[in-house]
Amino acid sequence: MASPNREHFGSRRAVIFAMAGSAIGLGNIWRFPYMVGEHGGATFVILYILATLLISLPVFISEVIIGRRSKRGAYSAMSTLVPGKRVWRFAGLLGVFIPVFIACYYSVIGGWSLDFLAKSLSDQFISGNPAEVKSLFPEFLESGWLPVAVHLVFMAICAYVVANGVKSGIERFSKITIPALFFIILLMTVYSVSLPGAMAGVRYLVRPDPGALTPRTFAFAMGQSFYSLSLGMGAIITYGSYVNKKENIMVSSAGTALFDLFFAILAGFAIMPAVFAAGMEPSSGPGLVFQGIPFIFSSLGKDLPLLSQAVSIIFFLAVVVAAMTSQISVLEVGVSYLVENHGINRKLASFLLFALCGGVGSICSLSMGPLKNFTLSGMTIFEFFDWFSSNIMLPSLAFLVVIFTGFALKKDDVRDEFTNGETLSFNAKVFQLVYFLIKWLAPVFLAAILVSNFIL
Ligand code: PHE
Repeated sequence: MASPNREHFGSRRAVIFAMAGSAIGLGNIWRFPYMVGEHGGATFVILYILATLLISLPVFISEVIIGRRSKRGAYSAMSTLVPGKRVWRFAGLLGVFIPVFIACYYSVIGGWSLDFLAKSLSDQFISGNPAEVKSLFPEFLESGWLPVAVHLVFMAICAYVVANGVKSGIERFSKITIPALFFIILLMTVYSVSLPGAMAGVRYLVRPDPGALTPRTFAFAMGQSFYSLSLGMGAIITYGSYVNKKENIMVSSAGTALFDLFFAILAGFAIMPAVFAAGMEPSSGPGLVFQGIPFIFSSLGKDLPLLSQAVSIIFFLAVVVAAMTSQISVLEVGVSYLVENHGINRKLASFLLFALCGGVGSICSLSMGPLKNFTLSGMTIFEFFDWFSSNIMLPSLAFLVVIFTGFALKKDDVRDEFTNGETLSFNAKVFQLVYFLIKWLAPVFLAAILVSNFIL
């Protein structure tokens, strides 16, 4: 039971910071560029922006409304507001299952980042020739055991933090590393665009290819937008429950969404030109960033080795911290569910999740190397986890969230929450439009896209 005096975020900056901390992670730096490269470049970028503004933003606002009004986390928020219906209890269970599912394979990529932090500490990008440094990643994957080991280390650190309730320590750290990451990516963009052959990468990002304009591309763009904003997994419902009654929901939601969008696009401009300059295929898949970025540091290292090494260390350290804050936020969902609903103590619950996600994640990791010939409908196990979570699970829960807000909650209650009891005049003016997006546009698009995943 949550107390009526649930802890609140102190200020608007604190709200946006906490939400941005969950949102900004590997989704922006690792997943966005690889999705752009696999699904049509500039066309994907445009559909991604549209999906964020027209679908993700209404879903985001709905999740904050549900969280703030119920003062509950993802598991019981909907069934507290509208008791007695099985479907909302099911939605609550999805809100626990999805984060745990994602935690299994997210940690594998967290492990890759950790290994690349070690590689930058030991000078490996600079000592090699830029043309060869991109093979560091496939060699690392082929070894089989090393990626599993670093995944388990990453998972263990995150589980330890959750077990001991020292989350705020890492979050305090992320207040420095996220702005640092942003700044470094900005510098990397400038450098990357100046590399010989980079302009082809810039063109790839700004010149749409009409042939790529398909429902399939839209389905991936929408999945990416949910993934990047931590939507459809209950995380924002839980954050919503800590948002102060005086806070302007629209401003904090739009602020987080736009910042996350900008961050992802910037990462695209840092990496894609380097990918072209390195002569790589943009559609190289999940390893794209881990091959493209070493090329940037290696090229810079030819003239300025010390600077390049220093920047690469800070870069990978910041990526690891961003990945940890995201991983910790999903693990926390599973752990608090076990603690609050099954009376298991926090340490044991963290250990159980470590064992479960560590084991399943190890299989995902091996599927990129020694087990790569084992596929499910043409995808490796890792790719299946990635696709199934973003394209199927997140949109499914997001669909339930907007249907809940549009149909199960009373319109006056939604309006009251959105306008803070009619005290926000701008929100009152745009309410009809936002409500239309939540009640009609988002559900129709979500349903169509969910179905299209199976027939296209
Ligand atoms: N929004 C996160 C990111 O971009 C996605 C995420 C959060 C994934 C938490 C897993 C867990 O990295």
